[in-house]
Amino acid sequence: MTLRVRALEPTDSFTALTALLHAGYARLGALGLNYTAVDQDVETTRRRATRGACLVAELDGRLVGTLALWRGGPDEETERFRRADAFVLGQFAVDPAVQRRGVGAALLAEAERVARAAGAVEVLGDTAETATHLVEYYRRRGWYVVGSVHWPGKTYRSVLLAKAL
Ligand SMILES: CC(C)(COP(=O)(O)OP(=O)(O)OC[C@H]1O[C@@H](n2cnc3c(N)ncnc32)[C@H](O)[C@@H]1OP(=O)(O)O)[C@@H](O)C(=O)NCCC(=O)NCCS
Repeated sequence: MTLRVRALEPTDSFTALTALLHAGYARLGALGLNYTAVDQDVETTRRRATRGACLVAELDGRLVGTLALWRGGPDEETERFRRADAFVLGQFAVDPAVQRRGVGAALLAEAERVARAAGAVEVLGDTAETATHLVEYYRRRGWYVVGSVHWPGKTYRSVLLAKAL
């Protein structure tokens, strides 16, 4: 199987990207964690994917993963994300059928490379504090908890995560 991570291209479908996000986040939704990507509409996918950069992963040419990243700035809802020398990561999912094969790790590695190339000194993210498997997933990859926040409308409190580049 050939894995390719690339930037989103104009021919990519936001409908397909949205379906992938829904599939990836379904398990979290079933746990009662209403992450935006559980049921976001296509316009939300488009807006978040075009805010900065968006990566997609293909296995033998099939779309199986995505990760969006954008530069921090004054529009961010939480103070920790307002740094212009940091990139925020979000909208991160891998098709459940091909998880645990390194697709997520490849997306994260490419995101770090893109952020570093753009002059960022840190990458930032967040996840539900009760999703301990995800917090551990990030920790094993060099991320650490830098704060917490309760995003409006969410059923859960989130931890803010950072990794120095
Ligand atoms: C989080 C997510 C994106 C990770 O994607 P993934 O492709 O499964 O991630 P990876 O394959 O890189 O790593 C997952 C685990 O599989 C293991 N793994 C990687 N390649 C492997 C292989 N070839 N064989 C066996 N295991 C492997 C990794 O070691 C890792 O385990 P570890 O954290 O104990 O090291 C994915 O699980 C997902 O879409 N989850 C739902 C949505 C979500 O949680 N998004 C993030 C919200 S913050």
